[in-house]
Amino acid sequence: MKRLTVTGIALATGLAFGGSAWAGDAAVGKAIFDKTCANCHSTEAGVNKVGPTLFDIVDRPIASVQGYEYSKKMRAVRKQWKVWNSQHLDAYLTNPRQVLHGVKMFFAVPDAKDRADVIAYLNTLK
Ligand code: HEC
Repeated sequence: MKRLTVTGIALATGLAFGGSAWAGDAAVGKAIFDKTCANCHSTEAGVNKVGPTLFDIVDRPIASVQGYEYSKKMRAVRKQWKVWNSQHLDAYLTNPRQVLHGVKMFFAVPDAKDRADVIAYLNTLK
């Protein structure tokens, strides 16, 4: 298990530093997003569902959407992680409730390639 986690972080680091081999495919990521994340998240500014809008999420400060009621845990994570960069998104999406015990979101993306694709798509939400 530990090995897998370390691999995930290595991949995300490659992503953050522009490693082209693991850049992720935004089109594939959008398909995954529309099937899964979209049940709880909109991509439009100001539109919250069960979860907060993910408009402009990459490098957005954690737990910062006005009018959305975050869990206490998510607000605490903000002090530690500050922003949703690629590494933080990758770690979180691997298993939200295991990585950040106490957050409300229970949907995980266990496959590292799927996460890279989703994060590539999230990068287009500007
Ligand atoms: C079953 C509903 C559900 C699904 C599916 C879901 N989420 Fe979430 N998500 C939430 C909730 C609820 C929160 C708020 C968590 C909290 O406050 O603890 C959240 C929070 C987040 C945040 C933090 C936002 C912020 O403003 O700090 C990100 C990033 C995120 N989700 C990404 C995703 C992605 C990407 C997917 C798809 C791979 C996804 N979520 C699927 C419910 C969901």
